[in-house]
Amino acid sequence: MTPKQTHNRRVALVTGSTSGIGKAIATRLAQDNFAVAFHSKSSVTVGRALAAEHSGATYVQADLSDQDQTRQLITEVLSHYGRLDVLVNNAGITATIPHADLKQASPDIWRELNEVNVIAPWILITEAEAALRQSASQDCPSCIVNISSHAGIRPKGASIPYATSKAALSHMTKLLAVSLAPLIRVNAIAPGLVNTPMSQQWTAARELWQERAPMGRGAEPEEIAQVTSMLIASHYITGEILLADGGLNLT
Ligand SMILES: NC(=O)c1ccc[n+]([C@@H]2O[C@H](COP(=O)([O-])OP(=O)(O)OC[C@H]3O[C@@H](n4cnc5c(N)ncnc54)[C@H](OP(=O)(O)O)[C@@H]3O)[C@@H](O)[C@H]2O)c1
Repeated sequence: MTPKQTHNRRVALVTGSTSGIGKAIATRLAQDNFAVAFHSKSSVTVGRALAAEHSGATYVQADLSDQDQTRQLITEVLSHYGRLDVLVNNAGITATIPHADLKQASPDIWRELNEVNVIAPWILITEAEAALRQSASQDCPSCIVNISSHAGIRPKGASIPYATSKAALSHMTKLLAVSLAPLIRVNAIAPGLVNTPMSQQWTAARELWQERAPMGRGAEPEEIAQVTSMLIASHYITGEILLADGGLNLT
């Protein structure tokens, strides 16, 4: 990555943007005229190809289960662009475990999910705070969007450790919205089922959404990207957990 001077366009970093929801969000933000930093753990070829498709985009590889690499991600984005306006904490991992099988949800699984789904977003926000403040103005605050989950609100989801990690991310969102205002807004989106590689095997969830969700289906990644774009453009909204589950929570 070649260092550049402070960029003249607004800059957005979207973690986990080589696949599924993150890829759709990063693509949408590029269409919204952001210079976008794509990121992933290991899909380097895909990340570089995506960055090459969008003007002003770049790609950075970092394993967010490694705290040093997580810090380095922000350092690299800032050394490339010289600014950061939007941080989308999208990268996340899951473990599929029946909720009644308590022993299978081992402490190691709790730690692994917590590291990527909760601690990594915290480190990224901590490292990005100064840059986000610097590029913010009263008319146009900087913006953090955390991709949480319906499973962090309703007693559902692939496993109890996963759902609990998303509940933590949602609560962190509200706490930070208070601490970082008014120059940095912090919101979360809690998607229900979204058709991505992560959810490919979730047959029971797909049936549930078809039978019980008022919208009668799961979401496409582009529909979550549209919600993200709307939140970023809404300069007064902070501390919201926007449930995007096709209305399943109502039934
Ligand atoms: N799909 C759903 O139904 C659904 C519903 C609610 C919430 N969500 C949440 O939405 C987010 C995106 O999910 P998705 O379904 O789009 O997932 P996905 O298709 O599996 O994509 C995950 C992305 O995150 C990256 N990633 C995974 N582990 C990482 C790590 N340790 N370090 C850095 N990057 C890592 C992956 O990079 P590599 O490809 O290089 O590994 C990939 O780019 C997650 O936070 C998920 O919990 C998903």
